Amino acid sequence: MSGMRSPEITTWNPASWQARKAQQQPQYADPAALQSAVAQLSRLPPLVVSWEIEALRERLAAAQRGEAFLLQAGDCAESFADCESDRIAKQLKVILQCSLVMLHGLKRPIVRVGRIAGQYAKPRSADTETRDGVTLPSYRGDTINHPEFTAEARAADPVLLLRGHERAALTLNFIRALVDGGFADLHHPEYWELGFLRHSPARDAYERILRAIADSLDFFKSLTGSTVQETGRVDFYTSHEGLHLLYEQAHTRFIPRSQRWYNLSTHMPWIGMRTAQLDGAHVEYFRGISNPVAVKVGAAMDTGWLQGLVTTLNPNNQPGRLTLIHRFGAKEIERSLPRLIDAVRETGQNVLWVCDPMHGNTETTVGGYKTRRLENVQKELELAFTVHEANGSRLGGVHLEMTGEDVTECTGGARGLSDADLARAYRTQVDPRLNYEQALELALMIAEHSKKARSL
Ligand code: PEP
Ligand code: CO
Repeated sequence: MSGMRSPEITTWNPASWQARKAQQQPQYADPAALQSAVAQLSRLPPLVVSWEIEALRERLAAAQRGEAFLLQAGDCAESFADCESDRIAKQLKVILQCSLVMLHGLKRPIVRVGRIAGQYAKPRSADTETRDGVTLPSYRGDTINHPEFTAEARAADPVLLLRGHERAALTLNFIRALVDGGFADLHHPEYWELGFLRHSPARDAYERILRAIADSLDFFKSLTGSTVQETGRVDFYTSHEGLHLLYEQAHTRFIPRSQRWYNLSTHMPWIGMRTAQLDGAHVEYFRGISNPVAVKVGAAMDTGWLQGLVTTLNPNNQPGRLTLIHRFGAKEIERSLPRLIDAVRETGQNVLWVCDPMHGNTETTVGGYKTRRLENVQKELELAFTVHEANGSRLGGVHLEMTGEDVTECTGGARGLSDADLARAYRTQVDPRLNYEQALELALMIAEHSKKARSL
């Protein structure tokens, strides 16, 4: 596999990836229009700033040391149509709720990172899709083309890159206002109430946890005399798959203060499974930016490939710089993870290990729905904790596809969703997400797991 060949070390610049093979890039019919869109993008104000990025790197370094835990979560793909206040607030709410439950169980600060405000470009297993003898380019996400199956909708349109930047900015602006305005204050979790939680089997456990957290915050306040704002505020960071390299390049800026390059479209971009080739364009681009970066890793990755990624992306072994998000599937994790843990150990480097229990557990129902069973998601996550521990390593976070809405895309959970329920509220354009209740159940499971582990 091409992933195994080590690249020559060359001088990096934001466009140096263009000399390498770039997988998963759309074909544009009009190069001048593409160039014009990219030129406009590179002049627009960025979405995030370098000191926020540095702050996140420090927090990820803490997670790497076992002093914090990462919750990275959101949609598989955001859509422009979903850029609405209600949906964004619900997504933020469910992430905050899950983080509270995890905080309580893990007794460690939770680093919250959304798959949000820019998660618009998707890798696809095939470049084209055929329906009834008609072949068209695959849908690649809302910054690239449209999902409808017509030649016009599926043509890659460079103007969508600008629309994507704008939607990401609108989304992040609203998130920042909510977080800064006290919405995310731990003293007021009642703001985060999702109406449907009232009827949820997980409600009692959640409320108990809320009360316990409120009590401990009051206790802390009475000890230290510090104000609500000082003790109760939470941080929230953004991430997306850094897939469309011209888009990422346009957001790459040199910061004179630190004399470094940053991608200012998001705090934490990641490299997907399909674009992690060692000699490929994505690894070349990512090695030169100073953001904390992540790579999705799976069973196909051999020792040399993984070691090459670790040394290329983090040559100075900087704490918090590199997160490895493993996604094997419940059936495969026990066989593959120990090998990858050993491979990283041999490099003498430290990484943050995170489990994505979603992407290795996708299946298609007889009815043609792409789904995931919560029991497999739970099983892979349980195994991730125990396999890391048994191999002298540590699971430092979880990566989830979930939504604050009452969708029916994954099966299982306390409400016992079955394949037959999927048709009721199946809304994702790409991968199936946990609904709010299934997400909360998973967070409760993580909390329970660590309580058990502590009492051993
Ligand atoms: C994703 O995170 O949506 C994705 C495509 O994952 P992976 O690269 O792990 O397949
Ligand atoms: Co996905």
